[in-house]
Amino acid sequence: MHQDYIKSFFEDDIAAYFNIMFDRVIRHINGGDICDLGAHGVGHFWAMGYIERVNSYACYDLSAEALNIFSGVMAELDGAALENQFGDTLPYLRDIGLVSSDAEVLSEQLKAKLRKVQQFDFLKDHGNHEYDLVLAMESLPVVDSYDDLLRAVSSVKSLLKPGGLALNISGQHVDGGESVKALQAHKLDGRLNPSLDVFIRAFEECGFTIIGSASMPIDFPDYLTADYCIAQAAS
Ligand SMILES: C[S@@+](CC[C@H](N)C(=O)[O-])C[C@H]1O[C@@H](n2cnc3c(N)ncnc32)[C@H](O)[C@@H]1O
Repeated sequence: MHQDYIKSFFEDDIAAYFNIMFDRVIRHINGGDICDLGAHGVGHFWAMGYIERVNSYACYDLSAEALNIFSGVMAELDGAALENQFGDTLPYLRDIGLVSSDAEVLSEQLKAKLRKVQQFDFLKDHGNHEYDLVLAMESLPVVDSYDDLLRAVSSVKSLLKPGGLALNISGQHVDGGESVKALQAHKLDGRLNPSLDVFIRAFEECGFTIIGSASMPIDFPDYLTADYCIAQAAS
């Protein structure tokens, strides 16, 4: 399933979704040490849109299998591999001003700035307040109850330095959709299906201040919106 998730992530025609995410969301990452929480095997893909502006990034996930696949991809990464995998995305990232280097330099940065790849369960584990920003790209919705969402957001807070930012992206699904059921079976989606309002409430309950949010309709089977919120931890 994890290999299939990565394959479908890059092969399905979801370029429009990617473009919105880079332009509207990843653009907000502007420096410091980044933790991609729930990065699966695709942390380097989102990192292309911010790597030139940050010191480092780390990829955390519950799934050891996904992280193993990711480590294998990173060991082989060079300019040709990047062009081969993301040849359609790179010109777009240059057009919108998120990337200026060529594929070879970009791949070197993606390797050199990768600080760690770590198995981590945001329902159980806690961090050491070492990151300036936690990127949670469709990972925090993988919970089955509001109490678990609060646990997950508290874990995000434990990863952040005081005053650090959480950049949370989630998509609300249609209950009962076949693709959703398959994702739920592998902890790639959850049963709570929180709306943006529910996320905002959870972040505020955990002591964050919301500094930006938006809900964007998307054209994707079984999913209705792409929502994001940017929340700041107390200083
Ligand atoms: C829908 S996938 C998103 C993956 C990736 N961020 C992306 O942009 O496609 C959700 C990810 O959250 C991870 N995840 C689920 N529950 C988790 C938990 N309790 N702690 C950490 N990661 C978790 C899954 O293993 C999966 O990689």
